[in-house]
Amino acid sequence: IEIAALAIAGGYLFGSIPFGLVLTRLAGLGDIRDIGSGSIGATNVLRTGNKPLAAATLVLDSGKGAIAVVIAMMLAGPTVGILAGVAAVFGHNFPIWLRFKGGKGVATTFGVLIAIAPLVALGAGLVWLLVAVVTRYSSAAALTAGLAAPLIAWALGLTDITVASAVLAALGWIRHHQNIGRLIAGEESKISFKRKG
Ligand code: G3P
Repeated sequence: IEIAALAIAGGYLFGSIPFGLVLTRLAGLGDIRDIGSGSIGATNVLRTGNKPLAAATLVLDSGKGAIAVVIAMMLAGPTVGILAGVAAVFGHNFPIWLRFKGGKGVATTFGVLIAIAPLVALGAGLVWLLVAVVTRYSSAAALTAGLAAPLIAWALGLTDITVASAVLAALGWIRHHQNIGRLIAGEESKISFKRKG
């Protein structure tokens, strides 16, 4: 039980590394929390106009979720791996370093899914891409992909993954409550892939 607790706590700590905040600060772009939605994720980093930095944030925030799962799985088996993945998303969303004000967990959830159920990650990722391309709303894409993940897992007969992805989706929807309000009001900002100078 000690090793399991350690793996889950490690997952939280890993997830709590705010790569978007660190990278934008290192690039001299100021505090990402003062820009756009105030979120620390790749979508908001993209609003600085720095595409490579947004891509790096996406990769690192996803990667930390996947690595948290893989390490925990090697230490304590698949169930603890899933729990450590959920802990990593909690870490990203509520990092102790930022007084528990973090991101929305979309990239980290994607990374966790890659590690625990690659097919589910692929399906949800495609749904994200489709909705993002059609609507240009990153939040709408994430909300839809969040719904798709447990449905895909269920269709594949993966009971544990269905439960885990439903928990992650519920957490994601709660974290997007302001985005949902803006979407309903027609005030959500769209993703732009153009350079802003
Ligand atoms: O990945 C988070 C995205 O769904 C919304 O981000 O910055 O527009 O609130 P943001």
